[in-house]
Amino acid sequence: MPTDEELIRDLEAREAKIKQMGGPERIKKQHALNKLTARERIALLIDPGTFEETGMHVKHHCPHFGLDKVDIPADGVVTGFGRVDSRTVCCYAQDFTSQGGSLGEMHAWKIAKIMDLAAKMRVPIIGLLDTGGARIQEGMSSLDGYGQIFHRNTLYSGIIPQITLSMGPCAGGAVYSPALTDWILMVKGSSHMYVTGPEVVKAVMGEEVTHDELGGFAIHTTKSGVAHFAYNSDAECIEGCKQLLNYLPQSVYDKPDATYHPPTDSPDRICPELDNIIPENPRQGYDMKQVIKAIVDDGRFCEPHKHYAPNMIVGWARFNGHVAGIIANQPNYMAGVLDINASDKAARFIRFCDAFNIPLVTLIDVPGYMPGTHQESGGVIRHGAKVLFAYSEATVPKISICTHKAYGGAEISMCSRSIGADIYMAWPTAQLAVMGAEGAAAIIHRREIAHAANPQAKLEEVTEGYRQMFYNPYVAAAGGYIDKVIKARDTRQEIIAALEALLNKQEDRPWKKHGNIPL
Ligand code: HXC
Repeated sequence: MPTDEELIRDLEAREAKIKQMGGPERIKKQHALNKLTARERIALLIDPGTFEETGMHVKHHCPHFGLDKVDIPADGVVTGFGRVDSRTVCCYAQDFTSQGGSLGEMHAWKIAKIMDLAAKMRVPIIGLLDTGGARIQEGMSSLDGYGQIFHRNTLYSGIIPQITLSMGPCAGGAVYSPALTDWILMVKGSSHMYVTGPEVVKAVMGEEVTHDELGGFAIHTTKSGVAHFAYNSDAECIEGCKQLLNYLPQSVYDKPDATYHPPTDSPDRICPELDNIIPENPRQGYDMKQVIKAIVDDGRFCEPHKHYAPNMIVGWARFNGHVAGIIANQPNYMAGVLDINASDKAARFIRFCDAFNIPLVTLIDVPGYMPGTHQESGGVIRHGAKVLFAYSEATVPKISICTHKAYGGAEISMCSRSIGADIYMAWPTAQLAVMGAEGAAAIIHRREIAHAANPQAKLEEVTEGYRQMFYNPYVAAAGGYIDKVIKARDTRQEIIAALEALLNKQEDRPWKKHGNIPL
């Protein structure tokens, strides 16, 4: 019988061996690629001394292709729980130095187990991915493993925040778990996400592409919209994840004040610079981010999808310490028009915030939906409807502020009173109308214009008449469609007053299995 001392030494020796991961050569290769190891990444993410590893001694039992003779430390994935800025999270980090971080049956089982634990603990789950995908030697067991993870990603969606840090290759099955999570963060240069790699693309399509062209950060943060953030290094990416967590509740069961931070910015601060921000020339844009930075606490704004559909801005900020999700049109890009990608971006953000009890603040300056065959054939009707659906089903506090244009269907889509804004405010520069003056006047005065001695002069006259009528907030205010006309400088104070009054808002919906958002 070994003594207690011997048992302890045996345990320590086992742990030390597992912590060597794939060995010094493979770790050197990992570092040469500017990538940290799984354990180094966890050490950066989790508060010192708080990480509790689970399943360290798990082993695969695949007898095929000589794998029975291969020891894969921790089966290529480090799993456990710990604290980030003092709040508990669960996480897993794939270890590329051990069999390429490939996912076999037990590797998947470890991930599924830590996901289950996160759901039971009601805390976020963070996956740090760096993997060659399904472990080829394990065949169907690997596929089943991915299925187990996808199933849990879906079951826990809307219950706990799920965040993916893509920090190396993520191919095949390895891209669909991230796609089912809430937020994807990539590392520039080392992270690649694609369903099939360049070799397969060449063989099947005859197309030659690089890893970057096919699935690098630039593609996914600007064109595909798959990823939400990109960073220069592993360390920056992990820091980005911590910043993101800072705005999120632990779970659906958290109250909105769970992420409250004592404010360092005065709730009474006025923003006189906003009084003149709307240009006199209606064709000239302005930067809505200046408005956001002016009204939020300390000018701090955490913005996912910064470079994807920039005509729509989404992100989180604090108002007197309370977190809110901001959705805003960007007049500086395509005049802030609503198109397919902007609709998808806004709808998904709104649904995330609603799922996790984060109030919504909507800043409106929208000329309408993007017209044209390209948008219509791409399904702007279907995609645009997602925004209507998302706002209508959201039961969190909803505060809307119209700064300038709110025309047509897009006026409704940007959280109008009719689809559920709790408080709707407008600046004196607001224009709430069924469409722009030129188009509207030309339609309703068509005959008069056609029969006028000078049709152009008549068009200008009737257009001016339409402007006089609708290019102000008071017609809408008279109809009760907006609650209040406010000075631009008071926007911060007004939002804080509305938000704090609405923090305990309750709004119920009739029971149903689930809605059928137009996907
Ligand atoms: C088993 C794997 C592996 C895998 C890598 N390795 N991927 N082992 N299964 N899927 C092993 C390698 O054999 C090697 O072992 C070690 O990991 C490091 O890999 P390298 O190739 O040396 O690294 P690198 O040159 O950096 O290339 C990385 C890579 C490449 C681009 C990811 O390894 C690669 O193309 N792997 C295969 C990708 C793939 O096709 N995966 C299957 C996807 S199918 P040694 O012992 O030499 O160090 C899939 C379907 C699931 O995922 C669908 C579910 C819906």
